[in-house]
Amino acid sequence: METQAGDPGAFADFDLGRVPSPCFVVDEVKLDANLAALADVAQRSGASMYAALKAFAMWSLAPNVSRSLSGTCTSGLWEARLANEKYDGTVVTYAAAFRPHEVDELLDLSDHIIFNTPRQHDRFRTNIEAARARGRKISVGLRINPEHSEVETPRYDPAAPGSRLGTPISQLTDRDFDGVDGVHMHSLCEQGVEPLQRTWEAVAPALARWTDRLRWINLGGGHHITRADYDRATLVDLVGSIRAETHCDVHLEPGEAIALDAGILVGEVLDVMENAGHIAIADISATCHMPDVLEAPYRPALLGESGDVQVRLGGPSCLAGDTIGTYAFERVPEVGQRFAFLDQAHYSMVKTTTFNGIGLPAIAVWNSDTDELRVVREFTDDEYQRRLS
Ligand SMILES: Cc1ncc(COP(=O)(O)O)c(C=O)c1O
Repeated sequence: METQAGDPGAFADFDLGRVPSPCFVVDEVKLDANLAALADVAQRSGASMYAALKAFAMWSLAPNVSRSLSGTCTSGLWEARLANEKYDGTVVTYAAAFRPHEVDELLDLSDHIIFNTPRQHDRFRTNIEAARARGRKISVGLRINPEHSEVETPRYDPAAPGSRLGTPISQLTDRDFDGVDGVHMHSLCEQGVEPLQRTWEAVAPALARWTDRLRWINLGGGHHITRADYDRATLVDLVGSIRAETHCDVHLEPGEAIALDAGILVGEVLDVMENAGHIAIADISATCHMPDVLEAPYRPALLGESGDVQVRLGGPSCLAGDTIGTYAFERVPEVGQRFAFLDQAHYSMVKTTTFNGIGLPAIAVWNSDTDELRVVREFTDDEYQRRLS
């Protein structure tokens, strides 16, 4: 996959020696700018925006998120707990399936609970009634699969043939909407507004039978709303026309768009060697710290990349494939040299592991306006040992 972001922004002038290595550094000015753009779309369109914690759950910046958006969307119990402890606003919870022993707590922590199938809804109807009896105002949703694909990579296409995510809209019957207040769909990934328009056009005729019974339509995430070339005016119009056409509220769940280009991952060269070219071994591991590099796969952009010397950058782990990519340098890097990968705030920090006992990157907040820098978290081998026994 091609990385769609990679604008260094204020990081072009950040001194990489100011933080421990490795370290995620998030510029709260850029984060706030993204949040302001999202809040503006919400305000102009009337949509509610819920921050997808699966993408960016850096809770030291939860107040920034809560100031701008209507709440959070969570993928299950642990994210729902985090949402309640650290964030304000509505909590929207969806999972492909819920575990029975977690449902009662989830119903206490969530305002919207979205089931993947009518069967899951049926399984937990009595829990919902009990939650309502104890005063919870739960709104129930059903995730549909629009059966319309806009994503090329099957791994990232929830509408791909055979997908388990959402009930195919062609399978739904009137009965499936009993007790359902809203529908949810999520079938985009890093996309502009046109794929959303096409998805809505594909799904609207089938959904029309039930919209008079619904209060909201949640259009999930995958909208790259804060990217410079995103057509926000058309999104505002589209949301407006969906609201007018269906008389439903419209909800969006941006994840990546919140933290797009707002963070870097700083690393350091530990050794250099030659084998069919220059190799630099770094303290950043693709598999431990940026697993999407291998999973997607994609090549993250390097801050200030320039020069004619091609260098393969790899991590310290035992995995032969723990290479991040080949990058241009002015000269073969020196041991101790710092570098940084761009656009690492989302889907990296939330996905790190300690495979090989490799330490987790520290986390820092930088304010590019005031130049204030705070290292908000450093990890020790407790993280590694606590997960084993
Ligand atoms: C249900 C749901 N909502 C929201 C999101 C956030 O998507 P993105 O980070 O691409 O905006 C995802 C991502 O997988 C998702 O599965």
